[in-house]
Amino acid sequence: MFTAQRLEKIPPYLFMTLRNKINEAKARGVKVISLAIGDPVDPTPTPVIDELCKTAYDPENHRYPTDEEWGMQALRKAIANWYHRRYGVTLDYSKEIVALIGSKEGCHHFALAVVDPGDKVLVTDPGYPGYKPSIWFAGGEPVPVPATAKTNFLPALADIPTEIAKQAKAFYLNYPNNPTGAIATKEFLNELVEFCKSWNIAVCYDNPYSEVIFEGERLSFLSAEGAKDIGVELNSLSKPFNMTGWRIGMACGNAEIVKGIATVKANTDSGIFNAIQYAGIKALNDCDDFTEKMLGIYRHRREKLLSALKKLNWEIPASKGTFYLWAPVPSGFTSAQFCEFIFEKCAIVLAPGSAYGQYGEGYVRFSLTVKEEQLDEAIERLLQHLKDVSFK
Ligand SMILES: Cc1ncc(COP(=O)(O)O)c(C=O)c1O
Repeated sequence: MFTAQRLEKIPPYLFMTLRNKINEAKARGVKVISLAIGDPVDPTPTPVIDELCKTAYDPENHRYPTDEEWGMQALRKAIANWYHRRYGVTLDYSKEIVALIGSKEGCHHFALAVVDPGDKVLVTDPGYPGYKPSIWFAGGEPVPVPATAKTNFLPALADIPTEIAKQAKAFYLNYPNNPTGAIATKEFLNELVEFCKSWNIAVCYDNPYSEVIFEGERLSFLSAEGAKDIGVELNSLSKPFNMTGWRIGMACGNAEIVKGIATVKANTDSGIFNAIQYAGIKALNDCDDFTEKMLGIYRHRREKLLSALKKLNWEIPASKGTFYLWAPVPSGFTSAQFCEFIFEKCAIVLAPGSAYGQYGEGYVRFSLTVKEEQLDEAIERLLQHLKDVSFK
């Protein structure tokens, strides 16, 4: 055996497992529609692609992008401007921002920068499955904090036992939330800052869906008073600009934690390809309208799917943010069983809620990041094959 013990804790990556299942079915000639993964099929804005092409021809950009280890100054300035324009947050580009290969990298580097072996780390349950492996890699112990329908899928901070709060080193949260589609409020963010300050808990506020919001206010954790004293916000160009494949994002906020993340990063990789950084600047500076347009598209798909499923008496709350719908499964099924049932009957792949934590049991997650024709076809299949299922 060559591999380290730490790998034994890491479960199979959900979307790899689903991808294998999809590929196997496709090989058998099944016309599978995946509504599981949140990966926009719509293209990146044209000016961003043009900027990449233009800057990719310059040999200056073919070299290691390490001159400015935290990301180009121009990119960090564009991030600071974007945060100010979109969220009213002021950031010092020289010490409060580090550019990343997506927010996923930030989740991982945050753990290595903040968590020591044996530390307890709070994570909402249900929550993004990427957090726990990052915490394990750092030797920490994830502690799930329930975030259920009873509290609008927000963690009830007052219910966290004092013993746990006292021992917790950090807290991972994400609103607009994957998988539930729930959003945070200003009041909640203030409460979070107060709670974490009182227990000296570092916050990793993972906010890649900050722009995908249908109801309520577009919010940054960093807009809460005192947030920068205790935490960072991770963000990303993946979702607002359909740039999941480009791998560009950022960690912003508390200067000490940002520096810690930058130290981990500088000793792990050699930064983001310069041409992608230039393209990122273009997106941040010039593509607010594009994000609004995508929001309109997701809103339309969301309403289309919700009203179709209503015909089956499948009542699904409209998510306030993200491009996901968090749907309760009918009684008699677990999440995994219902996903299997839908796959067998309709050749549609959904994400089982249980993959997001024990409190995700009883739900499945739909993603709206498919082409309109595929969504229409999926709706047709669901209406046809689920008509005898009781959703009461
Ligand atoms: C909550 C959450 N965090 C992080 C990520 C990773 O995003 P990125 O492409 O910015 O690495 C995702 C992707 O789906 C996500 O849902």
